[in-house]
Amino acid sequence: MQVLTDRFGRAHDYIRISVTDRCNLRCVYCMPEEGLKFLPHEKVLSKDEIVDFMKIMAQFGIKKVRITGGEPLLRTDIVDIVSGIANIPEIEDVAITTNAMYLNKKAEALKEAGLSRINVSLDSLQADRFKEITRGGRLQKVIDGIQKAEEVGLFPIKLNVVLIKGQNDDEIIDFLKFTKDKDINIRFIEYMPIGHAGNSWKKKYLSLNTIFEACNEAGFEYEPVDTVKGNGPSENYRIKGAKGTFGLIHPVSSHFCASCNRLRLTADGYIKACLYWDEELNIRPYIQNNPEELMKIVQQSIDNKPESHEMALKLQDEDTSHKPTWRRMSQIGG
Ligand code: 5AD
Ligand code: SF4
Repeated sequence: MQVLTDRFGRAHDYIRISVTDRCNLRCVYCMPEEGLKFLPHEKVLSKDEIVDFMKIMAQFGIKKVRITGGEPLLRTDIVDIVSGIANIPEIEDVAITTNAMYLNKKAEALKEAGLSRINVSLDSLQADRFKEITRGGRLQKVIDGIQKAEEVGLFPIKLNVVLIKGQNDDEIIDFLKFTKDKDINIRFIEYMPIGHAGNSWKKKYLSLNTIFEACNEAGFEYEPVDTVKGNGPSENYRIKGAKGTFGLIHPVSSHFCASCNRLRLTADGYIKACLYWDEELNIRPYIQNNPEELMKIVQQSIDNKPESHEMALKLQDEDTSHKPTWRRMSQIGG
């Protein structure tokens, strides 16, 4: 089997597929309040295109898939997309990142379709605040969704918490307490400057050292662990005696590009080898009639993959060598 390797020796076995750019929420770090101009339906890849694309990619060493959005559960054919991908013999792991507003309703069918596990965005454990950060989300729906996912065996469950200065940094200890008797993994993520014009994001950015400082202040002892399935770029720890774990994802303060094994496919059919940069190539015209050309384009995208994303330079106001992407996070899928 051919393996998709880049100039820096990084082999790619993981793809994140954004199945829609639409979302029912407007999280402050992800989308502007008024929303974005969404893709018309005919510009969005169909279920068959996505599954056919994955059948080709599976022949080139891709084994792990994460379905993202926007909000992937808004697609009425999401269960068929999952089963189509999960039924490809070479694919070992299919996960979804969701805001969980519709998870309660869909968890069971998704599990039956072959979904392995889920990540849920959850930036506050306080209902009012959750509503404010997501601009309209209902915390109870998320909690019900998580509970349902546990019941049907979508395991391990990971919660994504983007640390936002002045908005949820006083909840670090509450989140950590949440791991004490629940076998979940809470991943604290640094606020990233993706698709943010200007420097407004900097006012909200906190380095993840804040987590250790909060632990020390609260007298929480923690130890490193390396047993979380689908680890990715997260460094994991456990509060002594806790059932669950917590992870840190710091793309800005210390990036993990050297071990990046991932590609991205946007909802409109563009391959992106790096989340951060502008480079992207359209593969849609080739999915159903020219797999050779499609793979040439995927390899070209990998050949041009930059060594790292340089988000840290944004912190220092320095110029970067390439142009950052025009897409917002909801148009890439994180
Ligand atoms: N910074 C960090 N994480 C982000 N996400 C979206 N926008 C940002 C951002 N600016 C992440 C959230 C969400 C996932 C879909 O993308 O954690 O869970
Ligand atoms: Fe929607 Fe997720 Fe973006 Fe929030 S982070 S607006 S839930 S796509």
